[in-house]
Formats: sequence, C-alpha cells, structure tokens
Amino acid sequence: MILKTVEALRSQAAVWRAAGETIGLVPTMGALHDGHLSLVRTARAECDRVIVTIFVNPTQFNNPEDLKTYPRDEARDIELLSEAGVDAIFLPSVEQMYPQGFATSLKVGALAERLEGAHRPGHFDGMATVVTKLFSMSGADTAFFGEKDWQQLQIIRRFTADLNLPIRIVGCATLREEEGLAMSSRNRRLGAAARARAVAIPQTLARAARTIRQGAEVADALAQARDDLHKAGFSPIDYVAFCDAETLEPVSALNDRPARLLVAATLDGVRLIDNLAV
Ligand code: PAF
Repeated sequence: MILKTVEALRSQAAVWRAAGETIGLVPTMGALHDGHLSLVRTARAECDRVIVTIFVNPTQFNNPEDLKTYPRDEARDIELLSEAGVDAIFLPSVEQMYPQGFATSLKVGALAERLEGAHRPGHFDGMATVVTKLFSMSGADTAFFGEKDWQQLQIIRRFTADLNLPIRIVGCATLREEEGLAMSSRNRRLGAAARARAVAIPQTLARAARTIRQGAEVADALAQARDDLHKAGFSPIDYVAFCDAETLEPVSALNDRPARLLVAATLDGVRLIDNLAV
C-alpha cells in the first residue's frame, strides 16, 4: 500500500502495533538499487511489517543543483518494492514533511561537523531532522541504514541514544558492484568511462587498509591514497581520512578501537563516498 500523508502512516502503524506486530523502517531517497533492496530483505527477516519511505529531503541538500539533478524514478521504485514484498511505502510531499511554519532543526555536535559535515554545511542537520521525524511518524521498532553512509549511521546512532528515541538502529553492510564500486543512486550519473575509473575508490581504500595493517605510517598511506585517486582522475578529493570508527575523530595509528578509512572525491562532476574497516 502507498501512504502519502503523515496521518495515514500513523494510523496504519497503530493498527499493526495494536495487533502486536513489530515494524521495521527503511528510510530512502528513492532511485532504489540492490543496496536498498538488501536493507529491505534484512528488515523483512527481522520484523513483522516493513515500511519503506521515499522522500528526497530538500533540507539535507546543501547544493540546489544537486537536489535538482538527484535521480528520481518513482514508478520503478514502487515496482521494486512491491516485488520485494514491503507492507507500506510512505511517499510524502515536501508540504507533508515541512508544512508552513516549520522551524525546527536537529543539530548533532562534533561528530556531524567533520568529514561530510565540513564539506556539506547543513547536510547532517537536515538528515537528522528528517530521520527523527520519520522515526516519530512511523513508531517503528527498528530502522535499517546502509554502512555506505558510515558517518550518517554513526550520527543516527548518536542522536537516537542522546534523545532516548525508542528505536533500534541496524547498520547493514555496503553492497558493491562486481568490480567493487559501492552501490549508490549517484552512480547513475556516471558515464561508462567514468564508471570504469570509479573502481579506483574501493581499490585505493583496500590498498591503504592493507598498508596500515602492515605497519605503514598512516600519514604516508593517506598521501599515497590521495595520489592514487588523483591519478585515476578524481578532482577534487574532499578527504581521505583514517578515523575512530564511532567518533570519527582522526587517528594517527592503529589502536585497540575499531578504525575506518573514509573517502569523498569527485569524478566527472559526480561526488562519490565510500569507507572501509581497517
Ligand atoms: O541515506 C539516505 O538516503 C538519506 O540520508 C536518508 C537517511 C533517507 C534521510 O533522508
């Protein structure tokens, strides 16, 4: 079923809850690919009911051109989700989500200011606000997010804990194309030649992770990674960083806490992000 209003979403969720059923939420911005469908499959396995939301959230786009050109394919998305057996698709309008007079924004501290936060001002405030609204509207028990947006996932875990939101957050492994490129709706904007060169991102991450594990200086491994991406034609390279996996504070050497390599770089005008555990 397709739900277009907050009221319709709330009343459907209330019916399920009253019947003692658990609800899984998969928030998306549409242009669905196998990565999204794997989140749906995990949600299906863990919850009685699955709601997928499709909303291209304008408040998390710091660049109006990016919002305008963000891929949209509503008819195909609905088809894919029906085949995947979801119970409800929430497809709100901008007016439903941000009615006249809307004035609230959620700001998450330092974790949201580095990396993507530094390059996309306001992005995470918009993301955190809309995700909190979706949690509240759906009353879901569990929400599923991809690890591809690693920083986003850590921020969602942070504000969910900080605000005592009664929902469990599940991170799901990144799905990759055969040659290693992380699945992303933005990949649709890459031409064939750029798509072939984009594989330099996962290759660079894998090489840097290997050399750090083998004891190389982190600074040297990061410089090498930048160089590799530059040679593959990426420009600009916003960051290649080695961070604590949870706080995303930069770390200069492997320690006993989980660490993560994160990258954001642009190829032929398409900005790509990826990350890898070290
Ligand atoms: O990852 C996304 O697609 C979006 O940031 C999300 C979580 C759906 C919020 O708009």
